[in-house]
Amino acid sequence: MKQEEKCGVIQAIAERSSTRGYTQQALTEEELNVLIRAGLQAPTAANKQEVHITVVSGTDPILAEIHTAMTGGGQTPHNFYYEAPTVMILSADAGFKWSALDAGIAVENIALAAHGLGLGSLIIGCIRDVMLGEKKEYFAQKLKFPEGYEFEIAVALGHKGTSKEPHTFDEANNVSRI
Ligand SMILES: Cc1cc2nc3c(=O)[nH]c(=O)nc-3n(C[C@H](O)[C@H](O)[C@H](O)COP(=O)(O)O)c2cc1C
Repeated sequence: MKQEEKCGVIQAIAERSSTRGYTQQALTEEELNVLIRAGLQAPTAANKQEVHITVVSGTDPILAEIHTAMTGGGQTPHNFYYEAPTVMILSADAGFKWSALDAGIAVENIALAAHGLGLGSLIIGCIRDVMLGEKKEYFAQKLKFPEGYEFEIAVALGHKGTSKEPHTFDEANNVSRI
């Protein structure tokens, strides 16, 4: 047996890929709780635990508002979260220098946990400009961000309606050993 076949975490890392198509089957409370806890279990700098997760139903009008703010109301084949039944929006303390990194670690934990549950996920950064733009305070209030927090990253979650192979990589180009 290869070393990497021995460990479920390494297998999940190798198998996870972005899902850009979902069924409308809702996630169960149990699944949502596993995903939330995976995010909260992520390490944070100095254990500050400054990452906040807003769980949003895919049918909540706030998501349509964000989409419209991003597209200017133009038609797109999919919305930014590919009609997933759940979107988690991660915000963090705008005054803490590690917030973006901590949120990135948390969102990957959530994506890997989703894979572990047999679910699909898509990490979403494309809404960043509108989330931090002129409607920043409005979106922060609607999404119940804690005081002083701002958008970091989002993740769509649901049962897969499409599948995609994990991305390939060029180890020789991306790694130096000294
Ligand atoms: C920080 C970050 C932001 C991303 N934002 C988006 C996004 O807005 N829309 C999207 O379709 N994919 C987004 N992705 C997914 C990447 O495109 C995807 O991870 C990459 O193409 C590799 O494919 P894989 O996830 O299937 O391995 C994002 C990924 C990361 C890490």
